[in-house]
Amino acid sequence: MDSNILFLSQEDVKSCGGLNMENAINTMEQVFSIHDKGDYVLPNKTTLRWGDRDSESIFGRINSMPGYIGGDFNASGIKWISGAPQNPFKYDLPRAAGIIILNDPETLMPVAVMDGTLISSMRTGANSGVVARYLARKDSQKLGLIGAGVQNRTQLLALYSVLPELNEVKITDLDNSRAQAFANEMSKIVPIPIKVVDTAEEAVRASDVFVTATVTKEPIIKSDWVEEGSLYIHVGSHECEFDVIHKSNKVVVDDWSELKHRGVETISIMYEENEFEETSLYSELGEIVNNKRKGREDNQERIYFNSVGMGIEDIALASQIYKLAKQQNIGQLLSLWNKPEFV
Ligand SMILES: NC(=O)c1ccc[n+]([C@@H]2O[C@H](COP(=O)([O-])OP(=O)(O)OC[C@H]3O[C@@H](n4cnc5c(N)ncnc54)[C@H](O)[C@@H]3O)[C@@H](O)[C@H]2O)c1
Repeated sequence: MDSNILFLSQEDVKSCGGLNMENAINTMEQVFSIHDKGDYVLPNKTTLRWGDRDSESIFGRINSMPGYIGGDFNASGIKWISGAPQNPFKYDLPRAAGIIILNDPETLMPVAVMDGTLISSMRTGANSGVVARYLARKDSQKLGLIGAGVQNRTQLLALYSVLPELNEVKITDLDNSRAQAFANEMSKIVPIPIKVVDTAEEAVRASDVFVTATVTKEPIIKSDWVEEGSLYIHVGSHECEFDVIHKSNKVVVDDWSELKHRGVETISIMYEENEFEETSLYSELGEIVNNKRKGREDNQERIYFNSVGMGIEDIALASQIYKLAKQQNIGQLLSLWNKPEFV
């Protein structure tokens, strides 16, 4: 038996449909459904960091995210992803960069190593596509984005793909030049006006859907700004005051036990400080996808969604890309050994 490992660069991932948002959203919908059915293994995320919780927004961190996902995927592997907030500012590098390793379902041998940077941001955007499908008002027109980084780029691609009436995007960032660059770049891809606004308040007020994807360690969003009938998709860590969550009619998450374990998100901090009872959680997203719980029920509900991010999302998407790469002979074969020294 050979020991070949297929190496896929980001360009290879793109050649295998890595930028296909519609496919990523449908794939994530399947992942949430499987997550709810329990056909997965998800060891807790391990975080390598150089200090306490707040140190992550200064020095960064590296997350190790292993998992197995069943259903049609039957795939195992791990995403190893760094996040250094200073990278875009000091080194012209993305904040987050990662690799994904896939393992054979039977021999468990590593079979692929690929860029995980693009897959990770696509699946994070795609998750929000699923969220909006079930929890946004169907007639949502205005989208507010706080944080002009990588994640809000894929958030925009996903939300544009599932909200047909979207006609205005507001983008804001502490660094105005990043917001300008975002608007210039993304308006070439998404054919709706993208307006730079000066404050998070402007981005949130009058928005039907808004997303925070920043690296702040201080909460930004105030509950007074949040409109009736809106959907708030919380992607970063501690980005809103507690009252935003207290005043939401439905609180939905991807994986509650993983959120409690990770401990850096607003809702996990609230839980730790006895400000949020487990019984106040409306549901995990998979229960809504599988029709066990209702999604949005009327146009007045304020709905709050928070994701911690699960390795099984990355592995599901990576396993599709790996299959396609093999079919199309894309990538570079590397060999672990000619003959293993010891068996
Ligand atoms: N939930 C998930 O599954 C998931 C997945 C990936 C990333 N994330 C999180 O998303 C966040 C954004 O990641 P990214 O890759 O886009 O980072 P990025 O560095 O590319 O962009 C972050 C942007 O936020 C801006 N910012 C910082 N503080 C701000 C504030 N107070 N107000 C407005 N803008 C502010 C920065 O200037 C920067 O432009 C990170 O916290 C990351 O951990 C979550």
